[in-house]
Amino acid sequence: MDLDEAIKGRRSIRRYLASPIPEELIRAVLEAATYAPSAKNGQQWRFTVLTGSAKKELTDVFRQELRILSEEIGPENMGSSFGSCAIMEEAPVVIVVWNAGEEGWETETHSVAAAIQNMLLKAHGLGLGSLWIGDIFYVPEAFMRHFGKPWELMAAVTLGWPDQDPDPLPRKPVDLVAEFLD
Ligand SMILES: Cc1cc2nc3c(=O)[nH]c(=O)nc-3n(C[C@H](O)[C@H](O)[C@H](O)COP(=O)(O)O)c2cc1C
Repeated sequence: MDLDEAIKGRRSIRRYLASPIPEELIRAVLEAATYAPSAKNGQQWRFTVLTGSAKKELTDVFRQELRILSEEIGPENMGSSFGSCAIMEEAPVVIVVWNAGEEGWETETHSVAAAIQNMLLKAHGLGLGSLWIGDIFYVPEAFMRHFGKPWELMAAVTLGWPDQDPDPLPRKPVDLVAEFLD
């Protein structure tokens, strides 16, 4: 796929078909992640790939913790969190992304974000849909407890065959977001 087509054609996909994804495609997405630039080439990214009952165990925990939080702070303060949980329930694959950086650098976070973007682009190139999910940060302790990893939680990414074809969202023009100094 042409680079511009990949960059401009990718969409956040929030509806998925139930069909499973062959493991080799998941591996191709992860391999693309490993080609991202990283601070001092530290390759701080780590991935936990969840399908089947492992995925259900996670989304059950997520939904339950969201319910508890919702009782505490009110459903009007839950934003898109329940919707994101439903998307994770529907998608055949959820990948939890971690930052294993040990230096405490801000740039370790940036490295992992670059890896996630590579994942989304590679998924799109393979015809897969994907979604970067930050709503896990409504209840990050639940994720930390569930996995017991020594790493920092960065994101969840869903993967699956798309069951929607959303229109592109508007982009701010370059002149609005950039200045040229000479
Ligand atoms: C850091 C980050 C966190 C996001 N978290 C969520 C999320 O929790 N739920 C969701 O539905 N979309 C989430 N998104 C997707 C954005 O809503 C989406 O990228 C944006 O609206 C632009 O749409 P596009 O990806 O189709 O271009 C997130 C995106 C990023 C980069």
